[in-house]
Amino acid sequence: MGLQSMKPMLKAAREGGYGVAAFNIVDYNSARAVVLAAGELRAPIIVQVSVKTVRFWGPAAIAAWMRELCADSPVPISLHLDHCKDIHVIRDCIAAGWTDVMIDASHKPFEENLALTREVVGLASYAGAGVEAELGQIGGVEEEKRVEDADAHLADPDKAALFCRDLPLAAFAPAIGTAHGLYKGEPRIAFDRLEAIARRTGLPIALHGGTGLSDDVFRKCIALGCAKVNISTQLKHTFIDSFVEYHAAHCEYEPLKPLGAQFERMKQEVMEKITLFGSCGRAAACA
Ligand code: 13P
Repeated sequence: MGLQSMKPMLKAAREGGYGVAAFNIVDYNSARAVVLAAGELRAPIIVQVSVKTVRFWGPAAIAAWMRELCADSPVPISLHLDHCKDIHVIRDCIAAGWTDVMIDASHKPFEENLALTREVVGLASYAGAGVEAELGQIGGVEEEKRVEDADAHLADPDKAALFCRDLPLAAFAPAIGTAHGLYKGEPRIAFDRLEAIARRTGLPIALHGGTGLSDDVFRKCIALGCAKVNISTQLKHTFIDSFVEYHAAHCEYEPLKPLGAQFERMKQEVMEKITLFGSCGRAAACA
């Protein structure tokens, strides 16, 4: 099935009551683990990349890995730009063939956020790419910046309905109490707000800050309309820990061995999350 926009995947997921996993990758090995895990489970999947990782490798190189990995894949795979505030990076990714982009202008006043999101929807639609946008401020660490709890604020359902009214978004990311990075205490999710926003926008909702949420919270959010479920920090930890632990246990200097161990650990974790989110065997539903 290969590379394609997340828009039909997420529409099918919202209608079918399951979640499509969206993992942030950092290199070819992590991309390969995510793609092969999804293929084995016949699950649609989103491979997403943060802006700093895009700047590190370049959008064309990442697109080339993904084309190669997806060529024989039996599942639809989206290549998505995560949290981007810079329209130039968005343009470069779309030009390089990325299937989806997130414009994050949530730090701007409502009207400016809406205007910038509209502009991105306009330029993405020429290329057949899907768009995710954010309203409210999700807390935690994003790129190099920390959004302090006091600055994080939840999305308002009236404003969310207004924001999404005429926008053909692939996914909508309202702040509902989750946070990026590791949670300091028990996450407090505003389920009532999530329910109201999902109902009033009718859009597939993107759940940010997936690392550290319990299985019950994931299930409840998905049941309420979260069709895209983001995991970044967990995979980054596994990426580093699996390599370091392999080396500590074997103390040899053959890089392919810890890379192999790293690949297996990441693939296993991706498969566990896909299974939890209920998207196993759903590849055909997105065609
Ligand atoms: P975590 O890093 O908390 O898993 O959040 C991922 C995310 O929402 C990426 O946008």
